[in-house]
Amino acid sequence: MAQTSRIDQWLSRCGYCSRREARAWVRQGRVLVGNEPAHSAEQRVPGGEIRVDGEPLEAPDGLLVLLNKPAGRVCSHQASEGPSIYDLLPERWQHRNPAINSIGRLDHDTTGVLLLTDLGDLIQRWTSPRHKVPKVYEVTVDQPLDDTLIPLFASGTLQLPGEDSPCAPARLQILDDLQARLELTEGRFHQVKRMFGVTGRTVTRLHRSRFGEIELGDLEPGKWRLLEVPDLTRS
Ligand code: URA
Repeated sequence: MAQTSRIDQWLSRCGYCSRREARAWVRQGRVLVGNEPAHSAEQRVPGGEIRVDGEPLEAPDGLLVLLNKPAGRVCSHQASEGPSIYDLLPERWQHRNPAINSIGRLDHDTTGVLLLTDLGDLIQRWTSPRHKVPKVYEVTVDQPLDDTLIPLFASGTLQLPGEDSPCAPARLQILDDLQARLELTEGRFHQVKRMFGVTGRTVTRLHRSRFGEIELGDLEPGKWRLLEVPDLTRS
């Protein structure tokens, strides 16, 4: 059943305005419930019934965003850490509550599929190693690859320095001398770079091409699109 809340709460949660401003917007007739002007900011309604200036309220029950992360952006809300992925999203979303966060992080220089959401359950589900969501990376390294890496990465025994447990089995496909495709089901800190580092190679380019079933399609670097929120009760 659709969740009902006060109109002023919906508007502030979705980043449109403060609750005080919402009261003014209602008085000014800018807010409709269905096709009727809202009569009070305290009216309790499902978010899906609200229109502001003629437009439906944006993703009132939570959003899921696919971003093609460009190089040179950090997955952080801290301005001090440099240009942020969050600055690539609509300004209004910075004011949503709960806040939008990335589902896992990519390094500053990593490009490709990055998902963001304001739904905590989705973050929990898709970052938990228990759920083994496959992530696929296109990797370029500085020194030639060889086939011995395939069983090593698949073995479930590869130990990263400073970690208590070995990496879960990972699928490596060697594409040419310096390029490979790696599928992981975990998301440890700098995992791809550290796995190749153990073998004496440095990753010079890293691009995530898939997260679960989600790929970029024709999405340009720096661009985003909204995805349908999956029903977690059915998986
Ligand atoms: N592994 C890394 O080393 N870096 C990333 O950004 C993602 C996975």
